Amino acid sequence: MIKRRIVIKWPNGKQSIVQEGEDWIEEAEKAGIDIPTGCLTGSCGACEIDVNGKTIRACITSIQYSKNKELKVELLYDPYW
Ligand code: FES
Repeated sequence: MIKRRIVIKWPNGKQSIVQEGEDWIEEAEKAGIDIPTGCLTGSCGACEIDVNGKTIRACITSIQYSKNKELKVELLYDPYW
């Protein structure tokens, strides 16, 4: 299966071109974004980010193709983490 390319727009103004299925946390690090993590199993919510307005848990979600081929990321901050 051919993996499709996706443009990611990060909150720091950087832009990445990645293939679907890549890891959110690794791609964020390459772009200079540190996504906070805790459990890395999907249960704590520390790694939640908004992708095109939808909240995902970055540690258990791979980068998914979008029809408009572009994903805009917003970071969520939890003062308790
Ligand atoms: S690090 Fe806990 S849900 Fe992702």
